[in-house]
Amino acid sequence: MSAAPGRGHAVRWEAVRFAYDGVEALRGVSLDVPAGTTLAILGPNGAGKTTLTRLLIGLLRPRAGRVSVGDWDVAAKRPDELAARVGYVFQHADQQLFERTVRRDVAFGPQRLGLGDGGVERALGELGLLGGAESHPYDLPAPARKLVALAGVLAMEPGVLVLDEPTAGLDRAGRDRVIAALRRRSVDGVTVVVVSHDLAFVAEVAERIVVLREGVVVADAPAGRLLGDAAALAPLGLEPPPAAAVGAALGLPGAPIRVEDCAAALGGVRWRGTGA
Ligand SMILES: Nc1ncnc2c1ncn2[C@@H]1O[C@H](COP(=O)(O)OP(=O)(O)OP(=O)(O)O)[C@@H](O)[C@H]1O
Ligand SMILES: [Mg+2]
Repeated sequence: MSAAPGRGHAVRWEAVRFAYDGVEALRGVSLDVPAGTTLAILGPNGAGKTTLTRLLIGLLRPRAGRVSVGDWDVAAKRPDELAARVGYVFQHADQQLFERTVRRDVAFGPQRLGLGDGGVERALGELGLLGGAESHPYDLPAPARKLVALAGVLAMEPGVLVLDEPTAGLDRAGRDRVIAALRRRSVDGVTVVVVSHDLAFVAEVAERIVVLREGVVVADAPAGRLLGDAAALAPLGLEPPPAAAVGAALGLPGAPIRVEDCAAALGGVRWRGTGA
């Protein structure tokens, strides 16, 4: 069964600092993400996005501050304990594939957690992987391997999903499948933290956006407000995603940022520009 509404856990970083061999990657980050929220983390290369999310699974330990997932202090948990609560898809997904077939890879986590096969088949189906389920993961192109890693995490049905650049390299069909899968988890009450450079994707899934730069939070706003505001995005080095740009250019009601909201608003608009 999927996560019941309310199954997600809050995620919290409190005054977190982290450095790699003297390179300060996070310089005091505090964020409180309520359970069930979908948060997108944006920011330029090297801003600290991956570092911030890796702290959630105990792969890195903060040099100061505290990271928690629900009522768990991450520092007090082993990575295998955290895996039951937090599903993480790496920026480079090849780091997490090691079985001989796609299906075995996706089933590995659920088996370890003592779950049935239901989540495995559901995740394979949702991400369009059933046809290639008996293939070796490394016979698939890199973007498809990322989908395999994502399926493996979805199949564990964690209350918190953390995805680092999940749409990089994906074609439109793959991207749409990821969007649909994340929306379903959000409806189920799962907390989602997604790192992405893909603003059109972020517009489709995120409720809230945080922008990191040089290890500090430089913006934190509802997705609809930030992505629809070209003037606020410009100093952050970002541009509105296409649906938001169309909505703004045409002055569509509700200032839509998602494709279907834009299309719905367009359906209700009478174009008066031609003078006909
Ligand atoms: N293993 C490492 N050793 C040393 N420095 C590192 C390491 N990983 C990251 N850094 C440095 O830490 C800072 C933050 O890196 P991080 O990978 O968190 O950024 P990011 O926002 O995820 O970037 P990208 O968009 O390129 O994935 C950067 O200055 C980076 O060079
Ligand atoms: Mg990164």
